[in-house]
Amino acid sequence: MEAVRPFYVTALDAVSFLSLWLRKPRSIGAVAPSSDRLADAIANQVAFDRPGVVVELGGGTGSITRALLARATDPADIVVIEREPSLCARLLDRFPGVRVISGDARDLRKLLAEAGIGPVKTVVSGLPLLSLSRVTCRRIIEESFAVMGEEGVFVQFTYGLQSPVRSSHARREGIVGRRTGWVMRNLPPAALWCYRRARQDI
Ligand SMILES: C[S@@+](CC[C@H](N)C(=O)[O-])C[C@H]1O[C@@H](n2cnc3c(N)ncnc32)[C@H](O)[C@@H]1O
Repeated sequence: MEAVRPFYVTALDAVSFLSLWLRKPRSIGAVAPSSDRLADAIANQVAFDRPGVVVELGGGTGSITRALLARATDPADIVVIEREPSLCARLLDRFPGVRVISGDARDLRKLLAEAGIGPVKTVVSGLPLLSLSRVTCRRIIEESFAVMGEEGVFVQFTYGLQSPVRSSHARREGIVGRRTGWVMRNLPPAALWCYRRARQDI
């Protein structure tokens, strides 16, 4: 596993990300990988002292995976779902021990059940939620809360001012969210949101 990323790795990631974005702008959803600052802020939302695995949706080139791995005691506690085969191959190569699943986040329940993975304590989403269709978005929220216990937390970043989970979807799913911070050192700057089932305090 890479301890320190040499410059050429960062540059290669940026170039592959941009070329994927040019081909599939809605699915990739960002012109550059998340910065280390954003990845750290996301990983800091995870309670690593609680039992259970952390699922990352849309691993991309692994910015967030790296930050999660730095905090986990066992790499097998990190599960990454990525739909793009070339990115999956890169994640597997870079992060031995991390469970990388090639598949669609819309099928999260099935993917985890087939791999015998659980329980899940947190779902960290690197998906461009707001550029996906409303149906896909709702399905991903549903699937994420279906795989987590009562105290599950869904972490999402967004480049906008509004909640990345639409209020109608949050109401339907019985979840509440709050913005937990901003990260200015990212292209573009991003806000961090955490969602939980409504009856819990956040
Ligand atoms: C904005 S990029 C984020 C990548 C990385 N997490 C980061 O922060 O740099 C979104 C990633 O989600 C993946 N993706 C998009 N839709 C997906 C889906 N339905 N299931 C799994 N992965 C998906 C894309 O292939 C891409 O790698």
